[in-house]
Amino acid sequence: MSTTTRILLFLCIFCCIPFSAFAKHSDAIEWLDANTEFFHQKILANLSPADGLPGAVIAARKVEHEPDYHYHWVRDAGITMIALNDRYQSLPDGHNKQQLRHAFFDYLDFSARIQNTNKLTDLGEPKFYVNGEAYFHPWGRPQNDGPALRAISLIHWANNLLAEGDEAIVRHRLYDAALPATLPIKKDLEYLSHHWREPSFDIWEEVQGTHFYTLMVIRRALLEGAILARRLDDQGAAEWYHSQAKQVELAIQSFWNEEKGYLTATINRVSGIDYKQSNLDSAVLLGLLHGGMDDGFLAWDNPKVIATLRKLRATFAALYPVNQDKTPGVAIGRYPEDRYGGNDFTGGNPWPLCTLAMAEASYAYAALLQRHQQPYASIIHQANSDVKRARHHAHPDGSMDEQIDRDSGEMKSARDLTWNYAALLTTHQRTLVFQQ
Ligand code: NOJ
Ligand code: NOJ
Repeated sequence: MSTTTRILLFLCIFCCIPFSAFAKHSDAIEWLDANTEFFHQKILANLSPADGLPGAVIAARKVEHEPDYHYHWVRDAGITMIALNDRYQSLPDGHNKQQLRHAFFDYLDFSARIQNTNKLTDLGEPKFYVNGEAYFHPWGRPQNDGPALRAISLIHWANNLLAEGDEAIVRHRLYDAALPATLPIKKDLEYLSHHWREPSFDIWEEVQGTHFYTLMVIRRALLEGAILARRLDDQGAAEWYHSQAKQVELAIQSFWNEEKGYLTATINRVSGIDYKQSNLDSAVLLGLLHGGMDDGFLAWDNPKVIATLRKLRATFAALYPVNQDKTPGVAIGRYPEDRYGGNDFTGGNPWPLCTLAMAEASYAYAALLQRHQQPYASIIHQANSDVKRARHHAHPDGSMDEQIDRDSGEMKSARDLTWNYAALLTTHQRTLVFQQ
């Protein structure tokens, strides 16, 4: 036996096996396991509201005195449907699966409707009333991450239908080669592949410019779109989407800031808030998660990625008073200079969805280390502690609002933010590999 083999064997026997056993018995993972059905139901409660059209996804439950999130945000909806799609695949046949199937077709109809309705900007229009009408008041628009996330969610749904033998439905309702595009996926892909260089508003709807998050999700939409296009015999389009995705990839390299030592959120700022001096932002972490394809591009073990996540964690750990208590884990916010409190602008807070994103990234990194047969126990431990942190600030039944008050640790702002439950489901998905 060579020395390398011996070392590998040693690592497997003495590290991996006890590590996975350890992961399985963590409180954090057990809590996620025990609550997936609850998170799923929380999402369903925010789909197809009684006063709206089927397929509208409200961003949060409507509650007096809280900010009004009773709209269909294209971004939040896309993120939610991507998470539900993962769940759809793991559900056994039965009532829940049928219910999700209906939800997807409703979401598809609603998406097709808002693509075609009269609005101020093109497919980058960010938010709609639940009756499918566009919002005509001032807002940061366009937001070009929206159509990318919508495309990804619909591509995943198309892939499911193809796997179930429903190619006719896909060709009839989701993807057709016709130009100008007639069906939703192709519409978004045409829009993205022709407009990704243009400035748009960021994930937080505050800054107009070129954004890491937006380009990461556009890259994924174009690459996954190219695969679907090829599968449906639209060769020329497949090549075009793929070539544009490669250009997007090059553009993404410009976000590394050597001086700062991390991947920054925005370049070529045009307008919007001007006090984000650090340019350090959880949007980068979210871009790596939502745009990640496990294809080696900005992988979790990339030194630039590691440096950025480390910096985010250390910055928020020091910034928020709640992080000084004895609870494990670090509550993470949007960006250090944030001032948005939901109803006021008196200072930023940690957000459950950012805290869970940090946990999810650590599980993903641990999974990569496991595949490379390297030790990963400390990373899982960190992920578990961040899940516990999010849980610690949740309401007693596990439900979560948009923000965590940075001083008191109480839940704050929009109630039952749909995206939180999507983040809980995707975080849970990432733990499954340690439970096999
Ligand atoms: C509402 C946006 O959704 C939020 O992200 C932003 O901070 C505030 N408006 C202020 O622009
Ligand atoms: C504010 C967040 O900044 C934005 O990302 C989100 O889309 C909206 N709220 C709705 O949840």
